[in-house]
Amino acid sequence: MSRPGWIWMGVWTSLCVGLPALATAASPSASVPADLAPADAVYVGSAECSDCHEMEETLAGTAHASMFFEEIEGHGCESCHGPGSTHVEDPEAYSMRLADMSPEEQSATCQGCHSGREQFFWEGGIHEARGLSCLTCHNVHSPASLEGQLHEASAKEQCYTCHQNVRAESWKRSHHPIREGRISCGDCHNPHGSTTDCGETPAP
Ligand code: HEC
Ligand code: HEC
Ligand code: HEC
Ligand code: HEC
Ligand code: HEC
Ligand code: HEC
Repeated sequence: MSRPGWIWMGVWTSLCVGLPALATAASPSASVPADLAPADAVYVGSAECSDCHEMEETLAGTAHASMFFEEIEGHGCESCHGPGSTHVEDPEAYSMRLADMSPEEQSATCQGCHSGREQFFWEGGIHEARGLSCLTCHNVHSPASLEGQLHEASAKEQCYTCHQNVRAESWKRSHHPIREGRISCGDCHNPHGSTTDCGETPAP
């Protein structure tokens, strides 16, 4: 199966080209949910899932129900949850729950498609190193944010769930104009990691 990491390669241009992560981060990876599923499990198609789960409408209109998404992998629900035949026969034997996986495995599921562009330096970044996964911040079925499918209503609120000291600092008399909404965390930091040279914590 062709893995889509390469799709983003062309888009990734200037900033950090030439660093060692280039080779590894962009190389194709095995499909992790498929690897975790029972060995004899096969893809059954999203229509089967809908017999028991009303999740289709949660994806309607989002990137993960688009033509582009289908063209990349073509397994619908099972692109993320893995092949479902065993689960369909006996739901309790194999749950298909991503939350049951390790943080690395959760992220690898998403990185099958999102290993370029802004997610290029995820591996080795501080959030990855501290045990966060894509699922820590993102909620693909019922996001609270208008952009980026986050658990919280905005990027900044998402960051504040852990970085409370930064919220406190934003109320000081001299502060970056974050509270007023003119700039946000992402204007200076990439939560998906970067190299020190390119500045996860930008040089003061
Ligand atoms: C015959 C009915 C049935 C079908 C078909 C089915 N499921 Fe399930 N699914 C269940 C049941 C029942 C559970 C709860 C199992 C448990 O609690 O251990 C479940 C649990 C899940 C969970 C974990 C839910 C949670 O609350 O943590 C996921 C994810 C899931 N199914 C995805 C799928 C996908 C994807 C498909 C299609 C490939 C699918 N299911 C097809 C009945 C079904
Ligand atoms: C882009 C990846 C992706 C796709 C596509 C996807 N899911 Fe999920 N799904 C997740 C993630 C991430 C979670 C939350 C973590 C977990 O599984 O424990 C989740 C959770 C669930 C749950 C648990 C209930 C809940 O609200 O958390 C069910 C059931 C489920 N998905 C079924 C489906 C079905 C059915 C489809 C197809 C219509 C589908 N998923 C498509 C990623 C995906
Ligand atoms: C089969 C490929 C595939 C998988 C697996 C996948 N995605 Fe995506 N995702 C896409 C595509 C395609 C887009 C649309 C990108 C675009 O148009 O630039 C997208 C878009 C997104 C967006 C942006 C949505 C928006 O509205 O701005 C987020 C956030 C995202 N994905 C998170 C995840 C997470 C988290 C996972 C793992 C649970 C995941 N994706 C798994 C293909 C995938
Ligand atoms: C610490 C929180 C955090 C973690 C962890 C995280 N993200 Fe994000 N992600 C964000 C925020 C914030 C945005 C920007 C949302 C916005 O547009 O306001 C974003 C945006 C995105 C987008 C849409 C923009 C783009 O790059 O096309 C994708 C796709 C995405 N994340 C995928 C992932 C994947 C895959 C992982 C795991 C490897 C991940 N994220 C881990 C916070 C996080
Ligand atoms: C689930 C908790 C969690 C969330 C949510 C989170 N972070 Fe972090 N972040 C951490 C941890 C843990 C560290 C490592 C802190 C340390 O080592 O002192 C860290 C480190 C950082 C650093 C580097 C600090 C340094 O000392 O180099 C930056 C910058 C950062 N986060 C930005 C963000 C941004 C921006 C967001 C929101 C998009 C965010 N974080 C969301 C847990 C989180
Ligand atoms: C105008 C650019 C800018 C914006 C916007 C910004 N930061 Fe920072 N941030 C920096 C710089 C520069 C540093 C390094 C400061 C230092 O080391 O003294 C830093 C340091 C940090 C650190 C590590 C040090 C600490 O205070 O814990 C974290 C975590 C962090 N920022 C999170 C955030 C979050 C969360 C937001 C959004 C609410 C945000 N930043 C918005 C520029 C910015």
